[in-house]
Amino acid sequence: MKIDFKKAKLTEYPAEAMVVTHFEDSASPEGAARLLDKAVGGLMTDIIESGDFQGKLYQLAVLYTKGLVPAKRIILAGLGEKKKFDLEKLRGVYAKAAQQVRALGLKEFTFFMDGDDNRQTTKETTEAALEGAILGLYQFTSYKTLECDKIKTIERITVLADRDDALEDIHAAAAAAEIIARAVHFARDLVSTPGNAMTPSDMVQAARRIAKKKRVRLKVLDVAQMKTLGMHALLGVARGSDEPAKFIILEYRGAKRNEPPIVLVGKGLTFDSGGISIKPSENMGEMKSDMAGGAAVMGAIMAAADLQIPLNVVGLVPATENLPGGSAYKPGDILTSLSGQTIEVVNTDAEGRLILADALTYAQRFRPVVVIDLATLTGACKIALGDHVIGMLGNNAPLKEEIRMAGDQTGERVWELPLWEDYHDLIKSDVADFKNAGSRVGGAITAAAFLSHFVGAYPWVHLDIAGPAWLTKDKPYVPKGASGTGVRLMVQFLRNWKRDASHP
Ligand code: BES
Ligand code: MN
Ligand code: ZN
Repeated sequence: MKIDFKKAKLTEYPAEAMVVTHFEDSASPEGAARLLDKAVGGLMTDIIESGDFQGKLYQLAVLYTKGLVPAKRIILAGLGEKKKFDLEKLRGVYAKAAQQVRALGLKEFTFFMDGDDNRQTTKETTEAALEGAILGLYQFTSYKTLECDKIKTIERITVLADRDDALEDIHAAAAAAEIIARAVHFARDLVSTPGNAMTPSDMVQAARRIAKKKRVRLKVLDVAQMKTLGMHALLGVARGSDEPAKFIILEYRGAKRNEPPIVLVGKGLTFDSGGISIKPSENMGEMKSDMAGGAAVMGAIMAAADLQIPLNVVGLVPATENLPGGSAYKPGDILTSLSGQTIEVVNTDAEGRLILADALTYAQRFRPVVVIDLATLTGACKIALGDHVIGMLGNNAPLKEEIRMAGDQTGERVWELPLWEDYHDLIKSDVADFKNAGSRVGGAITAAAFLSHFVGAYPWVHLDIAGPAWLTKDKPYVPKGASGTGVRLMVQFLRNWKRDASHP
């Protein structure tokens, strides 16, 4: 898909489809839309006054312009009420409009950006509109071989502006939106790809694509190297599978060599059957998405490099399958983690925290300013918070605040759960230092409590993305299936990060 820019008036550009928005509480078209409405003899006013189109949020109407303007169609898109409006809604509105254009079988659409006097507003609206449109158009079709000609795609989005002062901002914002949306699509593709084609080795291949970018370096630890280091928590999980585990290290250097990095850790379970503590078979296939944290970290590094964010960022992705093979680890086994601490395995399905434990210990090597891990860690988090929210736990209030802010900006919102001392009792073991699961109570919290024992001397936040990583129903700009959650949250977090401020 290509993004084009044109300096032109709304009334003068020969678009196949011109997307125009309208608030529910405005009596008639406003701004540039008013001029377009005049040029088409009040077509828009007519449909609004008739009551057939009220401008309700996500409402759409297609109008045909009968040659009154060069644009063939107007896609009227409702923004809802002004006081409830925000960028998150705008993303959804442009996604819905773009999907409508695609459903009509068209290959392109155009929209006009009114430059706002506030330059920040112009940038934010352009970015949100384009990001929403591109994200909403995502489809995973690489395995379809029949009737491929029936798959509809949008090939071009054109952004119009007629204010010189705004054009430059619009250009920059559109470039950022495109980079970020592509990184989300990259993550979604990895998650959508089934377990037989997205093994740990396939994740390494995907990481190689990122490593082709400027200032990105890839290092991969194989099983032998992990053994030498002593990553036996991770290796324990990997034992039941014939696919060799990999430990992926992506380093993006956007700042000076000696500047301490931000380390992102992503759970890379390319398939989680539960192992010997095997899961029920209903919906087990969804567990191909258990590497969504790893995919998000890779997507975030990709976007950071493309946006040339002036920070050092390291991505760590421990990758393995969790299968009940003949050499599989078993309930009752005791594993010695990279930290030296021992873990009694009480449930082989609580594998994510084991591979993350070693990754969090390994993170200490980079002397990080902060470490954030993203993981589809617990069903309990999904039960507690649903699929709209990311569960957040951590050891540092200012860092949590930064992430909360990025969550509100991107719509990838986080909600904090408590990580109090009380929960640690639940993962004490009689025979080892810790056990890898408590009872069912407070499952999302005991998982984080477990992780906290492997965290080094750095500010740390754990993001449980089990809810939003995989959707069974469409959201306005997130088609059902792999959401790519965490990519935009992390990229926004990095963009906000002020190096000199007195951070955690
Ligand atoms: N990958 C799962 C968590 C999960 C479940 C993610 C559903 C997305 C949707 C994780 O490895 C797991 O199995 N967790 C167990 C932990 C339990 C055995 C302590 C769970 O949540 O049931
Ligand atoms: Mn599991
Ligand atoms: Zn898992």
